[in-house]
Amino acid sequence: SLPNTYPRPVTVAIIGGTGISHLEHFTPTASLTVPTPWGNPSSPIIILETDAGAPVAFIARHGVHHQYTPTEVPSRANIAALRSIGVRTIIAFSAVGSLREEIPPRDFVVPSQIIDRTKGNRPSTFFEGGVVAHVGFSDPFDAKIGKIVKRCEGALSGGAKIHEDKTLIDKRIEGPQFSTRAESKLYRAWGGDIINMSAVPESKLAREAEIHYAMICMATDYDCFRDDAPPVNVTEVMGHMKANALNAQHLVGHLLEELVKEEHDDLHTGVALKESAKYAICTSPA
Ligand code: ADE
Repeated sequence: SLPNTYPRPVTVAIIGGTGISHLEHFTPTASLTVPTPWGNPSSPIIILETDAGAPVAFIARHGVHHQYTPTEVPSRANIAALRSIGVRTIIAFSAVGSLREEIPPRDFVVPSQIIDRTKGNRPSTFFEGGVVAHVGFSDPFDAKIGKIVKRCEGALSGGAKIHEDKTLIDKRIEGPQFSTRAESKLYRAWGGDIINMSAVPESKLAREAEIHYAMICMATDYDCFRDDAPPVNVTEVMGHMKANALNAQHLVGHLLEELVKEEHDDLHTGVALKESAKYAICTSPA
């Protein structure tokens, strides 16, 4: 079994979505149990090392046995635990539905915007219980990391593409059922390109924790906006999900190589995130 400690800070983390419960091609060197004031993370944090010896942290968002629904994912614990071991960059994977003909199942998407349609019934801030803070969230994703992801497009097999600069609808619903046709069409009319259930509150909490956050979305279905096609169903989703998981493993290999090539500060010149909570706290000291 792996040790429960790791001797160095780990600055880069991968959050695996549905279909990605572990990372292949890297050597696991530690399995960290990291309790936080917000409870335990979805899974132990596995520390893996790349061929170059760079450490990367991995968390399975829905648990090792996919036991947490999107509503139940302990996002505050996940983000706090990663921050506590030194993480400043998160690459989060997520299965998504496509709202556009030009984004077929098995293509990947790096979104630049979110329309938050979650119900707001999950904790989505670290600031409460007497401390009020407002952080900027106009650009929820790290554009620089997005560009590096796009550079790795060649790692995908089957001719899959990586689309950039798209708008993600996050519709985390209790259930978790997919959308109706009318909703799907409404989201398209709003400018939505893809839809999932996992970007909120994860990306908001990462911003509060001053962690650079990028999402890699993997299309599994066309949702249900096409009147002439059968609606999304789980069997179809599963087939595409398997193919996507394989491609995600290849992509991560290339991406981590590219990421470690970049200087850490250099990587983060896009948004001055280091200070995103600097003047955010409104509560006066007692
Ligand atoms: N995740 C994968 N496909 C989805 C869809 N059609 N709607 C919401 N979340 C999804």
